Amino acid sequence: MKNSVQEATSEATRLGTHLSESLREAASAVDAELERILPMPHGPHARIHEAMRYAIFAGGKRLRPFLVLTTAKVFGVPRIGALRVAAAIEALHTYSLVHDDLPCMDDDDLRRGRPTVHIAFDEMTAVLVGDALLTLAFEILSDAQTHSSAEVRCQLMAKLAEAAGHDGMIGGQMIDMLAPERSFGVEEIVHLQRLKTGQLFEFSCEAGAILGEASAEDRKRLRAYAREMGLVFQITDDLLDVTSSAEKTGKAVGKDGEQGKATFVSTYGVNRARDEARKLAHRAAKTVQVYDNVAPELSALPLSLLDRES
Ligand code: IPE
Ligand code: IPE
Ligand code: MG
Ligand code: MG
Ligand code: MG
Repeated sequence: MKNSVQEATSEATRLGTHLSESLREAASAVDAELERILPMPHGPHARIHEAMRYAIFAGGKRLRPFLVLTTAKVFGVPRIGALRVAAAIEALHTYSLVHDDLPCMDDDDLRRGRPTVHIAFDEMTAVLVGDALLTLAFEILSDAQTHSSAEVRCQLMAKLAEAAGHDGMIGGQMIDMLAPERSFGVEEIVHLQRLKTGQLFEFSCEAGAILGEASAEDRKRLRAYAREMGLVFQITDDLLDVTSSAEKTGKAVGKDGEQGKATFVSTYGVNRARDEARKLAHRAAKTVQVYDNVAPELSALPLSLLDRES
């Protein structure tokens, strides 16, 4: 007879396998949807379509689409609407990476294992690709195929605008760029990371509930989960910058220290940053245990991020 430790271990392995499969499925489903949505190169401006496709179809973990699809599953949302919102958030996220890599920002040459858009094309094209992907995200959400209710579509657009805009992701990017000239305490770093990374995760998790016209309580719970999980994600991104390699992550490492970025790792060091991430991951997992019967991959995700290699 198995003892309780063995049982817990095999349950954890089963959950881990289920999560990996769900992540793979979400990635291939959203890729197929993006393939349908992204225009094929045409006309005298075909270069913009080529560069948009180059940026989008370069791999990428498709974590934000996974969160949209999983939270949508909790509320029984029709697949087509969930896939379109997943495609919209991935388009917007990809825009943020293209601009983040520009010489005037983090100045990176490698992204998702290949030359960044401004290297493969040029800077002007990279700026335009970002603009085009950002706009495309809202075009996708506004279409009636996303949800039959105009009220729901408006809510999605308003929430995404809030998450991505001046008091959201862009606000976070602004603080991130100014950080090397200032001295930051932990609270300020948490604030910066909640904006620059957390906001898109919060949108991704709430999106399933908005599509499913779920209760205010569900929406609040999913945002709380995303807040903790987003921090785990950014702390582990900062850890990878000092502990991993370009081969594994598909992007340059060692840049945060070089550019004087304010991170958990620069403040606490690797070990304490890891401990903080672990605490947050457990908290996040607990928040969504109520959905374990329908979507156990939601509570499994934060803990798995602790061991991620890319
Ligand atoms: C990178 O995001 C940018 C951060 C917010 C740290 P991801 O690590 O999700 O990038 P992709 O989409 O998998 O390339
Ligand atoms: C990027 O954060 C966050 C956004 C693009 C909004 P980072 O600068 O840490 O991301 P990487 O490390 O280049 O992927
Ligand atoms: Mg950056
Ligand atoms: Mg960067
Ligand atoms: Mg980083």
